[in-house]
Amino acid sequence: MIKRYIGDYHFLADKTTGITMRWGKSVNDNPSFAPVPELADISISNHCTKGCSFCYRNSGNNQEWMSTEDYCHVLDAMNHPKYGNVFQVALGGGEPLEHPEFQTIIDETVKRGIVPNFTTNGIHLTDDICKGIKGKVGAVAISAITVDDIQQEKLALLSKHGIEANVHYVLSSKNIDEAIEIVNGNHHEKFRDVNAIIFLTYKPAGRAASTDVIRKGEKINSFVQAIGNKNVKRTKIGFDACFVPMLLRNAVVNAALVDSCEGGFFSVYIDHQMNVSPCSFGGGRDAYNLTEYDFYDIWLNKFEVFRQENANKCVVSDCKAHDLCRGCCPYYPEVTVCYEH
Ligand SMILES: C[S@@+](CC[C@H](N)C(=O)[O-])C[C@H]1O[C@@H](n2cnc3c(N)ncnc32)[C@H](O)[C@@H]1O
Repeated sequence: MIKRYIGDYHFLADKTTGITMRWGKSVNDNPSFAPVPELADISISNHCTKGCSFCYRNSGNNQEWMSTEDYCHVLDAMNHPKYGNVFQVALGGGEPLEHPEFQTIIDETVKRGIVPNFTTNGIHLTDDICKGIKGKVGAVAISAITVDDIQQEKLALLSKHGIEANVHYVLSSKNIDEAIEIVNGNHHEKFRDVNAIIFLTYKPAGRAASTDVIRKGEKINSFVQAIGNKNVKRTKIGFDACFVPMLLRNAVVNAALVDSCEGGFFSVYIDHQMNVSPCSFGGGRDAYNLTEYDFYDIWLNKFEVFRQENANKCVVSDCKAHDLCRGCCPYYPEVTVCYEH
């Protein structure tokens, strides 16, 4: 169990279950930010040979890797001399499983007492990879934009090795009909080896066309309605931080159990060139390189401006969740579907 009490910030994390808890001055209070980030989202490359049409990082067959040496430097830079390191990392890319030193990266993470998780297109997931990561990773997420994409044999492989598997379903205006079906419990059998389906908001960056962003309207309303339907047998569902304004505004989940966007407040993003920024969707904005700046100078000082500007800029004053919500995404306000832009 990790226990971190720093001033008004309190954080508990259980490595075996992955359950985390945070509170502020009292348990009824939210802390404003974490003096040591809880999670680091790290792109260990920008190399991927799959070429997804929706890839927000525009990754390609380009041999752009983060070296293992740089990766270890990133982990060690995040280790606060007094309070310790991040609880977990979410590894992405590029395609993590195409990184030539993927196994070493996992092992170096575990060696430092940090829980590694990663997201993958699943293509290179093999029995040998599973043997190498078993008992070391928190969870593996396989990305998809349609249920037909989901490689059942890869999910079964993860399940066979007792590795928790999630599906990252990138939700756009193109697949929202299918997403409604999923939330209504259709396709249930295709998710039998899955812990949870996590819906990710489609971001119009890299190769992802702006025409496919989800818009406010009838379809998103049906999606929200389906989420609120408790009488349906379905796999556990979850949402990325960018869906929080929609969930709060429509009160489909208990607001007390929802965390508003964590990027720059409780989590940090580091790209394969060691640029540190609040989240992976900044596209170079609010980014500071670790070769020039100390990590805690970035986290505590440089990001303070971002935190002040984005703590709560919700403009829907009559929303019951107004005080809880940070408002629109700072980088892609058009993906926030809680009101008309
Ligand atoms: C860029 S991918 C890299 C990791 C790996 N190659 C994969 O396919 O999961 C990292 C995460 O971003 C998600 N993603 C990709 N393009 C996206 C987009 N346009 N909007 C939102 N999420 C996206 C993926 O589903 C995945 O969860």
